[in-house]
Amino acid sequence: MLQNELKELGITGALATHLGVDAQLTREEVYRVVYGSRIASRVLRPLAEFECPDDETLYENARELNWAAIVRPGQTFKVSATVADSNMTHSQFAALRLKDAIVDVIRDERGERPDVDKDDPDVRLNLFIHRDKAVISLYYSSGVMHKRGYRGAAVEAPLKENLAAAMLRLAKWDPFEKGEPLRDFFCGSGTLLLEAAMLATHTPGGWFRARQGFEALPDYDAETWQRVKAEFDAKIIPLKPGLIGGADIDAQAVISARANFKRTPWAASVSVGLADFRKLDGDYTGSVIVTNPPYGVRVGADGETPDAKSVAAIHKLYEDFGYFLKMRCPGARVCMLFPDPKFEKDIWFKPVRGMFLDNGAISVRANVYQVLAAKPKSE
Ligand SMILES: C[S@@+](CC[C@H](N)C(=O)[O-])C[C@H]1O[C@@H](n2cnc3c(N)ncnc32)[C@H](O)[C@@H]1O
Repeated sequence: MLQNELKELGITGALATHLGVDAQLTREEVYRVVYGSRIASRVLRPLAEFECPDDETLYENARELNWAAIVRPGQTFKVSATVADSNMTHSQFAALRLKDAIVDVIRDERGERPDVDKDDPDVRLNLFIHRDKAVISLYYSSGVMHKRGYRGAAVEAPLKENLAAAMLRLAKWDPFEKGEPLRDFFCGSGTLLLEAAMLATHTPGGWFRARQGFEALPDYDAETWQRVKAEFDAKIIPLKPGLIGGADIDAQAVISARANFKRTPWAASVSVGLADFRKLDGDYTGSVIVTNPPYGVRVGADGETPDAKSVAAIHKLYEDFGYFLKMRCPGARVCMLFPDPKFEKDIWFKPVRGMFLDNGAISVRANVYQVLAAKPKSE
């Protein structure tokens, strides 16, 4: 999916791997991806790759890099690390050793230590150790790209923004030529509706961000960035009122979704209602419904696995939703997230396509269904 999105952003020759997409990019192309992508999580440039059986090897190899040219005077930095199937087992310790190497190299060169900033660093480094092979990379995005900048206080179980964007692609929603209405009846904080608004208005994924990660890097080219930004921004169009709408049974969720929309240009064009979907009596014929009903996994008290009673309640909710789709949404196309395959059979329809996606620590299934159109009444 990301490979296809990159093609649309003008990137050719990108190769999908099991961890992401590899591509050789010019600086301008990097700016296009960081600003334009709604699917990518992060854009990383590998700086060094080496065998890494222990922390001493990590430290020594990391010391070879010219850190003083990457973290410049007055700049702060942060290291994040992931370790898997390796001799080194603690990612925090691995991150600490890389941080030590960076600090030591810079102190030796400049006589002063650079500061670490855990919340809003200028320069971010990523260390990935898999099967004792280390890759040190530099972030060109400002950390994880799903943090768009429109979200206020989080509600329970919000969907990751890039996952919401992926669901909209999976649904093949067409807001342009066909002008298909989009609905989310379990909208929570409105992530799917907000991502839908971005898609329907050609708003780049990085549009809300105050600054992009690459702006603090030594190879930053302000002129190229301004050109890329102007080219993307010129394509933004207004949101058609009524095209996108949603509801939720929880008042707090509705308040949060509306507050999120207030941070965007689309608050007046999108309606978010307070309702139990079972009581909705509108006609949603031919809509595209993209939604993630309650998980069960996260709705249990304090994030615990729910008890059998609430599992039964979720089965019932999926069943009721299937009935609602059949009665109220003839001809609709539905993209739904399932936390657990056991709920899939509660929906009355057979999926036309689907894929597994990671939502934080939970692996979830997104399925697309086609609801049958209502039969014309015989004369
Ligand atoms: C997993 S959350 C959705 C999260 C949302 N996609 C987001 O990004 O914030 C599921 C939502 O379904 C809502 N919900 C549960 N039962 C409902 C019902 N019968 N009708 C409408 N909404 C319901 C919950 O209040 C919750 O906000």
